[in-house]
Amino acid sequence: MAVCKQYCFSLVFMTFLYVTCTLAANAQYNVESYGAKPDGKTDSTKAFMAAWTAACASTSPATINVPSGRFLLGSAITFGGQTCKSKAIRVSGVSIVGGTLDAKGAALWSCKSSSKSCPDGAGTLAFYNSNNVVIDGLSSQNSQKFHIRIESCHNAKLQGVKVSAAGNSPNTDGIHVQSSTGVTILNSHIGTGDDCISIGPGNSNLWIENIACGPGHGISIGSLGWKEQEAGVQNVTVKTATFTGTQNGLRIKTWARPSNGFVKNVVFQHAVMSNVKHPIIIDQNYCPNNQNCPHQGSGVKISNIKYKDIHGTSATQVAMTFECSKTQPCRGITLDDVNLTYKNHPAQASCSNAGGTSSGSVTPASCL
Ligand SMILES: *[C@@H]1O[C@H](CO)[C@@H](O)[C@H](O)[C@H]1NC(C)=O
Ligand SMILES: *[C@@H]1O[C@H](CO)[C@@H](O)[C@H](O)[C@H]1NC(C)=O
Repeated sequence: MAVCKQYCFSLVFMTFLYVTCTLAANAQYNVESYGAKPDGKTDSTKAFMAAWTAACASTSPATINVPSGRFLLGSAITFGGQTCKSKAIRVSGVSIVGGTLDAKGAALWSCKSSSKSCPDGAGTLAFYNSNNVVIDGLSSQNSQKFHIRIESCHNAKLQGVKVSAAGNSPNTDGIHVQSSTGVTILNSHIGTGDDCISIGPGNSNLWIENIACGPGHGISIGSLGWKEQEAGVQNVTVKTATFTGTQNGLRIKTWARPSNGFVKNVVFQHAVMSNVKHPIIIDQNYCPNNQNCPHQGSGVKISNIKYKDIHGTSATQVAMTFECSKTQPCRGITLDDVNLTYKNHPAQASCSNAGGTSSGSVTPASCL
């Protein structure tokens, strides 16, 4: 399951986890041989930690095996802080089926909102450098930070995932995908305080289908372009999604800084917006507090982005915003069959440095 580096895996009180594993021809570390009991009653926290420590001390590739069953992780466990000896620590063919992870993040959220100095907190479940991961029917609640993180993975399938956290909880992204290929996210319901799904740099061939998002900040490609040298995002499909009361619907967001990053070949299709502040938005001027980037243009090149069959209601007058980079204008945006209204009237569109075409019926009228 979760893998080292500075990652913290924290599961707090009364967490039940059903896990099954298959294959892997490298060193095996089975949590049961470290004393974990798949009975749903015995606190297996220490066993998970011990398996983790052993695997991380391995100089050859290691796999942490969690047999099928129900494991109670009765107190906070943190995997990480140590550097694994083998850089090749990875999981392969791991499935996590069912179960609920509850990280009880509310105390940390309220600390953060009171602007005291607070611990950073930890994500709940993360996979790094892993192939053929399956997460099926898993619920994750109240993470201190990101609920589920998929990074540097190849072929991951997440389906029937449920994420829930308060709409004002900070930095609690539902599913974050980064530097990965072949990730599929299906049939999932995500309500949280940050992005329902966030798509970081270096992703290709990502397929997202049948998602209900809200509350939250929508499905976001970004933030991208913080680094000058950054891998791009390509071949992303988001198909059949509903957004309810969210800050954004379909968003692409880049820092207003020099970068060689890019976003290309993206299809957003069949989305229903319900009272969404920014149903369609490209924002290339992201520069919170005007720090480290005022007056700069984003270097991220955005091209070939298709919006097709996007309907519903906007919570603000401007439902479609293409605020592209002054140094790298967006190219090849296409709009086809869009109808977004604001208070029962056509909403508005706003463009800068954005090029493309529209076809079919498009309301508000395209400003491309
Ligand atoms: C993106 O999709 C195209 C068309 O399906 C394919 O030819 C290309 O190899 C894909 N790119 C990557 C990086 O997989
Ligand atoms: C857009 O949607 C509104 C609300 O459903 C509807 O009244 C209007 O006729 C639609 N406009 C177009 C051009 O389809």
